[in-house]
Formats: sequence, C-alpha cells, structure tokens
Amino acid sequence: MIKRAKPKAEPLPEAAPGGPRHVAIIMDGNGRWATQRGRPRLFGHHAGAKRVREVVEACPEVGVEYLTIFAFSTENWKRTQVEVAGLMSLFRRYITKETRSLSEFGVRVRFIGDRVRLDDKLIKLMNELEEATAHNTRVHLTIALNYGGRDEVARATKRLAQDVADGRLDPENVDEETLPKYLDTCVLPDPDLVIRTSGEARISNFLLWQSAYAEYEFIDTLWPDFTREEFAALCASYGGRDRRFGGVKT
Ligand code: FPP
Repeated sequence: MIKRAKPKAEPLPEAAPGGPRHVAIIMDGNGRWATQRGRPRLFGHHAGAKRVREVVEACPEVGVEYLTIFAFSTENWKRTQVEVAGLMSLFRRYITKETRSLSEFGVRVRFIGDRVRLDDKLIKLMNELEEATAHNTRVHLTIALNYGGRDEVARATKRLAQDVADGRLDPENVDEETLPKYLDTCVLPDPDLVIRTSGEARISNFLLWQSAYAEYEFIDTLWPDFTREEFAALCASYGGRDRRFGGVKT
C-alpha cells in the first residue's frame, strides 16, 4: 500500500505583538463529542488526545512559549472505573507514542499534580518523558495529571510548614513570593490566557493561584473539534487586551 504523506498545514497568521507567552487550556467536551456520534466517552478522549499535538505544534508559530493542559483532575477519579482506567491507559499510550515526535519538535514536557495515586508504570513513563525532553526549549508543555489547584496549594503549604518547623523558613518572611516557590509550577511563569472549551464558564480547580490575573476565553467548541486556527485566533485577540493587573492605564 502506498502511504500518502500527511498534507502540510497552511501557515498561521503571523504572531501578533503582545500575544500570550503562557496559555493554559481546560480541554473539555470529549464526552459530549463522542455521545453526539453515538460512541463511548473514551472515543472522545482519544480524539481529544490527537488535538494536543496540533496545538503544541502551533505554539511557536503564534509566539506561545508555555502551554499547560488539564488532562486529569483530582476530581476525575469520581468517573466510572472504565473511564478512569481507559484514560490512564490512554496517557500511557500517548507518552509511549509521542515521546519521539515531542522531542524532535523541541518540546520540553513537565507534569504537575500529585503522582502518589498514579500507577507505577505511568509514573515511570512520565519521569522518562521529562528526562528525555529536559534539554528542549522550543515549547514548554506542562501536563496536569491528577492535578487540582486546591490540592496543589495544600501540598505546597505542607512543605512550607515543614520548612518553618525545621527552622529553614522564618514565618515573618512569608509573603506572596514565598508560596509560589512551593507550587508544582514553581519554574513556570503565570498563565496569561486560560482557554476552556465546550461552553462551560468555570475554572474547575485549575491553576487557582497562578491565574489570578489571567485573561479567560470560554468557547463553545468541543475539545476534539478545536483547531490550530482557533487557537491562533484566540492568541491574536489576546494581543489586543488591556491588562492592568489592578492598576490604571497610564
Ligand atoms: C474533559 O472532557 C476531558 C478530560 C477529563 C480528559 C482530557 C483528556 C484528553 C484531552 C486526552 C488526552 C490528553 C493527553 C495529554 C494525552 P469531558 O469528558 O468532561 O467531556 P464532557 O464534559 O463532554 O463529558
């Protein structure tokens, strides 16, 4: 059989000045997308996983250096055992399958969230992917897996309290700059733009501390239908926003 080459994607419009450096995405709507097609929910998650590559590869074109995606929340364990097991298997397969292309594209992958509840095989694959891509700088992809903003703040506070108890930190010196150093995201800049697909206008425990001054885009598209063009358009419209961080325009 002759294998046809993948058609080359059309170039995206040039990155607008003042575009977002860090975009975070709540990839919602996989289940509804599958249901609309009379298929099981996992079919939607598999379709959703394919969109991740497209968006990652669009990042350099639209000037985005950091992309953070919400893959599995601390609340997602409440789903059926079949869906949870299917998602865990999807994450294992995704990492195994995508390591090479992510690395070749220059993506540095990091995971945030609590690894304690994840299975050993998945944790090993996550560690290997982080190590294999540690030298890359073109796109910083952070995958939130068993992540919850409140859980992250609680875990950070526990470590901070331990440093106080051990005499490494003076409580008098704890300020707004201290806590972020204990968060899973300590090496990342705060997100500039948070996108949620599928028409829901809530943040569902995602990057609570980090998104205090982010701009939000809640769009109707279901995640498996999200395109690089839509991503580029949202980044371009961000470039026109007037962000004052609580101050006034001078
Ligand atoms: C929300 O849609 C989506 C998830 C809980 C999982 C997100 C996972 C992926 C996009 C797949 C793979 C990701 C990686 C990194 C390989 P939903 O199930 O809540 O949809 P619904 O609201 O329509 O039910």
